Amino acid sequence: MATAEQRREELVELFREVSKCERCQLHQTRTRTVFGAGNANADLMFVGEAPGQQEDLQGIPFVGRAGKLLDELLAENGLARDDVFIANVLKSRPPGNRDPQPDEIEACKPYLFRQVELIEPTVICTLGNFSTKLLTGLPTGISRVHGVPQVHQLGRRTVQIFPIYHPAAGLRASSVKEILREDFKKLPALLAAGPPPQEPASPPTPEPAQEPASEPIEDTQPKLFD
Ligand code: URA
Repeated sequence: MATAEQRREELVELFREVSKCERCQLHQTRTRTVFGAGNANADLMFVGEAPGQQEDLQGIPFVGRAGKLLDELLAENGLARDDVFIANVLKSRPPGNRDPQPDEIEACKPYLFRQVELIEPTVICTLGNFSTKLLTGLPTGISRVHGVPQVHQLGRRTVQIFPIYHPAAGLRASSVKEILREDFKKLPALLAAGPPPQEPASPPTPEPAQEPASEPIEDTQPKLFD
């Protein structure tokens, strides 16, 4: 089993790979990729939709108005950004903030699944329709599934998926903000319950007799990970 430090190093490698990604057309119009940020060993992950204008400029997720609401909801529940990891379905901004297209979601999906495997969260809070449908693998929309956890296998990780409304929807309607606030309150108990039972790990590959000395990994954007 990989240690938290090994998983973090792999996450930094993945960050480097994503920053050069040209798997879909969005690389032509983005300023920077937005890989995700926070605690690389977080129990709680949030998955939004795609970077907006501010995120595209700064390379950090949820730094605009929706991000401010997310920060507020975290604080109300005794959490901070440093305790969680925040990512998106897409790592590059769709021009004009249009909806992610199916081919873009498909191209970016392996990055998100790898992030989940490396971070090993207990709970993934999906924000809105795009991340909820992608990670549950179900077509049911957010208004029908919000606030109720679902257990899913994502790659090698079994997690509680907890769908809630996207904070941007909360900014548009105060009734949605109230629902979001009520759903958010369920998070501490869900986290306290611990991870769902995991699939048995496949047998470890035998260690080589002598490990080659590994190159130190330079984190090119260290503020993204703790
Ligand atoms: N909306 C998202 O879904 N993600 C961001 O990073 C910002 C706004």
